[in-house]
Amino acid sequence: MQTISTVAEMRTFTRDAQARGRSLALVPTMGALHEGHLSLVRHAKKQCDVVVVSIFVNASQFDSREDLMRYPRDLEKDLDTLRPFKVDAVFAPRTEEMYSEQFSVSVEPGEIARPLEGACRAGHFRGVATVVLKLFNIVRPTVAYFGQKDFQQALVVRRLVEDLNLDVRLVISPIVRDSDELAISSRNALLSPEERRAALVLSRSLKRAEEFAQAGEAQAEFLRAEIEKTFAAEPRAELEYAALVDPVRLEPVEQVTPGCVALIAARVGSVRLIDNLIFGPPGASPDMLLQLALTARLMIPTAAAIPGFKTEAVRRSIEACRECAAYTSILMPPRDFLSQYIHAQYPDLNAPQGAVIGRDAPRNPDNYLYRDPAAGNRFTRGLFELLGVKSFDEFRARFILTDAIRCHGTGPHIPAKALGYCSVNLREELRLFPNLRLFVVLGDDAYWQFQRFMLERQDGEFPPFEDLLGSQGWASEQARAPSLGERILRIFYCYHPTYGYKRSPSIAAMLA
Ligand code: PAJ
Repeated sequence: MQTISTVAEMRTFTRDAQARGRSLALVPTMGALHEGHLSLVRHAKKQCDVVVVSIFVNASQFDSREDLMRYPRDLEKDLDTLRPFKVDAVFAPRTEEMYSEQFSVSVEPGEIARPLEGACRAGHFRGVATVVLKLFNIVRPTVAYFGQKDFQQALVVRRLVEDLNLDVRLVISPIVRDSDELAISSRNALLSPEERRAALVLSRSLKRAEEFAQAGEAQAEFLRAEIEKTFAAEPRAELEYAALVDPVRLEPVEQVTPGCVALIAARVGSVRLIDNLIFGPPGASPDMLLQLALTARLMIPTAAAIPGFKTEAVRRSIEACRECAAYTSILMPPRDFLSQYIHAQYPDLNAPQGAVIGRDAPRNPDNYLYRDPAAGNRFTRGLFELLGVKSFDEFRARFILTDAIRCHGTGPHIPAKALGYCSVNLREELRLFPNLRLFVVLGDDAYWQFQRFMLERQDGEFPPFEDLLGSQGWASEQARAPSLGERILRIFYCYHPTYGYKRSPSIAAMLA
């Protein structure tokens, strides 16, 4: 590994590599090397024949003299760190080598450099763009490596390359975090142990926003407020900005869509830290998310649901519904999840003999109608009495609760087409349980759906719901169900417990 400190020597090195037809990587750094930098080095080693790491604390990008003075510097240690990586050369010029006394030309990076870091640190990106251009001109790399950690910086460098037609390819790598999730930074070394603990609020607040987004929350202002709330609970950290922006112009968005970025800067004690997070489908790898952000184009906001977010929201509501012994929620779950769920919850598919169609499915399982029969209403109490079960667990093992409507709206009257569509799934589910004989059908929509798609009756072959229930408030029948292998079913109809059940008698009386 060569250590090079002059521009002339560096040029010779590059010329030599080029003459031998080698691809050349540059990893620009300011030293105090850590795993974040090393991830870039590893990447470079994999992709290029010759790897150069530059170490130069660039004074012109610091907006505070104090910050510059105390920036950690230890060249010998950095060289030791790099040796095992078999880096070919370290370019570590002195300040005078890079900036002569007459130095006066610099690069003004424009719009992309104005918000966020640009707004907080006057002249910062001018300093960055200028030194990066100088480094590119001195080292002449084929590929240059930057980190997502400094997301705005990566975009500034991208503009620099595109706008000035620089002949270099950029590779951006995801953020490397410590095991406690703190984004690794040279400045972390300046934190006291308590400050370091407090600094975890940066990643924690971003994670919180991500969780909300993946559960379906797309309002940027809501997500931003959550980040602020998380900070409010950590008095040692002072949030400088939290912004949810598009990844092209870094302008605030109203709705978060895949590729949008949350960027934050905060002070912990006297140390200024930054972090960011790219929104995207759950399970997307960090590389995929970066790709999403870096290849995004500006679009007219459509408030469209985020692909993948919806599935995640469904997964969560199903998980919550496990508590309820119901295996579907308002939305249609992914098929493989459903089958896994059924096998876990109903090891013996022969056991359940009854089903309630048109269950109540609140988002919060604590509000679930069937959970606590003692405290609950006479519907549940009666149902439990009738089945001879005492606890919800016992009930769950023997009884299926399913929803008539799961992929469409939640209004009291669902369009016929939607009910028909949902029925396909309902039939498939019910067929899994060969001994189902007793059905309790709750409410108008479930009734109509059951008549039409389970009993396969035409309109006009069954009375309107209200007429059927009449003054008694309930009705029952025995019927053959073509959709369930011509099984004879005993079916009870009544009002939905949350809508109008008081017009029905106690279910125990009804089913007795
Ligand atoms: P420095 O802060 O030393 O960072 C060098 C490179 O390492 C940058 O591209 C940065 O984004 C990346 N990096 C830092 N921490 C990282 C982490 N935790 N995970 C992934 N990558 C990380 O950025 C600079 O230096 C300077 O501005 C420079 C570009 C060298 C110009 O002076």
